[in-house]
Amino acid sequence: MRLSKPKVSIIGSGNVGSAFAFALMIRGIAREIVIVDKDKKKAAGECMDLKHGLSFTYPVTISSQGYEGCADSDIVVITAGARQKPGQTRIDLVQTNVDIFKDIISNIIKYTKDAIILVVTNPVDILTYLTLKISGLPANRVIGSGTALDTSRFRYLISEHCKVDPRNVHAYVIGEHGDTELPVWSNASIGGMKIEKYCPMCKNFGNCGHEKELEKLFDKVKNAAYEIIEAKDATSYAIALALVRITEVILRDENSVLPVSILMKDYYGINDVCLSLPAIVNRGGVERILRLELSAKEQAQFKHSAQTLKGIIKGIKF
Ligand code: 2OP
Repeated sequence: MRLSKPKVSIIGSGNVGSAFAFALMIRGIAREIVIVDKDKKKAAGECMDLKHGLSFTYPVTISSQGYEGCADSDIVVITAGARQKPGQTRIDLVQTNVDIFKDIISNIIKYTKDAIILVVTNPVDILTYLTLKISGLPANRVIGSGTALDTSRFRYLISEHCKVDPRNVHAYVIGEHGDTELPVWSNASIGGMKIEKYCPMCKNFGNCGHEKELEKLFDKVKNAAYEIIEAKDATSYAIALALVRITEVILRDENSVLPVSILMKDYYGINDVCLSLPAIVNRGGVERILRLELSAKEQAQFKHSAQTLKGIIKGIKF
């Protein structure tokens, strides 16, 4: 454990990797950031640009290196791989990114077996599972960013609808980070009040088309990435902030609850697949998965998400 000088290595200097490095640098929680990319020129350029901002941030050493730079990292964050093009689903990337990942994981493992690995590349749940299998690391130290971002989108849209600070909304999106994800309305609350009790108190209730609005709201969460990719080719800022939050929770040993993708062990009978559920995260990685009590509809949706991913894993050529 190197908490005196926390080190984060980032694999991939594309939109997500570089936005994450930038946000991490501003937050001041890492003392060393290493960027690894097969495009060495791009990684070096990103580092140079970041370092030129060092007189405005907290002290941090930033460098672009080969995989040897991952040695002694506290966290290795993998953002490299093909990204969605307009009209593509995350699952469409599976075989391409599985092939890329086999190489990435064996290279990381050559230089560190102690780091927590945070997988971001899509399809994130499948690549988290693959990382777990290839690396042989314990399940609590291989985490996918999963629905941390979808949950943030969900909270933001609820907060906008209810005109309340998103930080006071407690609501989760779970399952696949993708088309089969689901909102857990049965546990959603604002300031300690269940949404179904909170909303009737609002002066707009009755005029806001409540039920239809909430349904539309989740569709917006599910389709957010498609919409952003259509408009600007990639998503980067919100995922970067989600990654900073996950990194911070780990480095500061916070025991905070985050919805992240992890190996399922007998949750409603689901095993051997990575999916997102809220989990307690700290310096050791995932401490404990919260076994949410889901409604019958939510259980069926969660099982469908698991079955879909398992079906895709079966079809992958390893
Ligand atoms: C996102 O949801 C594309 O998975 C990425 O923004």
